[in-house]
Amino acid sequence: NLKTPEEYLATAPPISASAEPADAKPRAFTEEEDPNCQEYPFYIGNRPEKPNTDLKVADKYTGKIAYRVALAHVNDIERAIELAVQAFPKIAALSSWQRKEILEHCVNAFKARFDDLARALCIEAGKPIKDSRGEVTRLIDTFTIAAEESTRIYGEWAPMDIAKRTDGFMSITKGFPIGPISMISPFNFPLNLAAHKIAPALAVGCPFVLKPASRTPIGALIIGEILSNAPHLPEGSFSILPCSRDGADLFTVDERFKVLSFTGSPSVGWPMKARAGKKRVVLELGGNAACIVEDVRKPEDIDVIVEKVIHGAFYQSGQSCISVQRLLVRQDLYEGLKEKLVAKVSCLKKGDPHDEDTFIGPLIAVSEAGRIQQWVDEAVSAGANLLCGGQRDGALYDATILENVPGNCSAYNDEAFGPLLCIESYTHFKGAVARVNDSVFGLQAGVFTHDMDKAFYAFEQLEVGGVVIGNVPSIRVDAQSYGGVKDSGFGREGVRYAMKDYMEERVMMMVNVGKE
Ligand code: SIN
Repeated sequence: NLKTPEEYLATAPPISASAEPADAKPRAFTEEEDPNCQEYPFYIGNRPEKPNTDLKVADKYTGKIAYRVALAHVNDIERAIELAVQAFPKIAALSSWQRKEILEHCVNAFKARFDDLARALCIEAGKPIKDSRGEVTRLIDTFTIAAEESTRIYGEWAPMDIAKRTDGFMSITKGFPIGPISMISPFNFPLNLAAHKIAPALAVGCPFVLKPASRTPIGALIIGEILSNAPHLPEGSFSILPCSRDGADLFTVDERFKVLSFTGSPSVGWPMKARAGKKRVVLELGGNAACIVEDVRKPEDIDVIVEKVIHGAFYQSGQSCISVQRLLVRQDLYEGLKEKLVAKVSCLKKGDPHDEDTFIGPLIAVSEAGRIQQWVDEAVSAGANLLCGGQRDGALYDATILENVPGNCSAYNDEAFGPLLCIESYTHFKGAVARVNDSVFGLQAGVFTHDMDKAFYAFEQLEVGGVVIGNVPSIRVDAQSYGGVKDSGFGREGVRYAMKDYMEERVMMMVNVGKE
């Protein structure tokens, strides 16, 4: 039942926020300015420019304007693409050690500005401060991996004397930078999901133009500031442009871009692919990730699993494409695990993301919390049990657990992207695997088992891009291959895998070389 790009377009959610009581906390976006409001330029051809400060970025907890940012329009994007085209031969010609030094410069600057970066995430995304620090750590990892990989772009020698008629032939293949890359990054990891596009481009020597999410552009702009001071980087190599919707179209359709790398929702991504023309397309889209709990070695293992599920389902309020949305537990383990899970989740602290002990911060918009509320209400009306949570205050939504949600409810079927977990029991492992596959999505799945037959069965049968054995599907190591199947996406990220997409392979065929 996969949807066509046109069907996705028809079902795209409305953008406006729902009406909100004036005393709701955190409030809907207001025009009130925070006294510490800061201004940010955009980056075009490696340089900061501030022709306006039209983009207002809210503190997602207070609702006040925390940043005013330069907004790019069509002519700026046009200019950025042209600069990238001109820079391409120069950045492509950099030596491996130079590309490595550019990336190492960024790693060192990220380390020096660690707290600054975490604070910006906490404000612009409402991400709890502990999760914000976690994301900065991953940003450093992603650039470090790219620095290492930038000197390991190996080719292949192959014998081509495979028949009498090709006697004396051999080949060498080598990856060449493909050209300017169009990048669109999402709001939920403003730093690290931009990094997963930027760092591989720098590692291979491709210029790029990045559009960060309009609601969270600051992380990417700080990367831009750091990159603008990098050594070796030829003029025009990069642009980072928060922009209006009219300009955003160029990121999809302009043929000077050779790759479109998009992370975001399926309703936006699939129609883009249909309009992307001849360029290569990578789509990292959504999911409703499932986790199976099949066996434990000792009773205490349940406590460890409960902790992992809580983190996987509720960290950064479930706003991750691989957040656990469906938990399937073998029948004899079910009641014990449920009791512990509900007791702990009911105590998770919700509130100001700056507080060290806050676990649940605000969702990205009040309208998103309203949507989750609707989905929970719909599931309960359809017969699901509400085990905990279910309350909303502005953009804050409780960590919520529903039991036995009918399969046709949005809470089960669609991507929640919020603090919502559906749990159920099962009797047969193969049946649980089939239930996980009964979804239009297929990004990652987790399986708690110590039985290698079952682990491999899951690996063979689960229709997903990644299977995590012994943990939740929410685990992502920044060096791994990452991406989905079915409606969850197209292509893979993870530094080495993105680097492959940013290169075109060329073969040199040779005959009788060195024979005489
Ligand atoms: C995503 O939301 O797709 C990214 C998850 C991650 O990088 O941890």
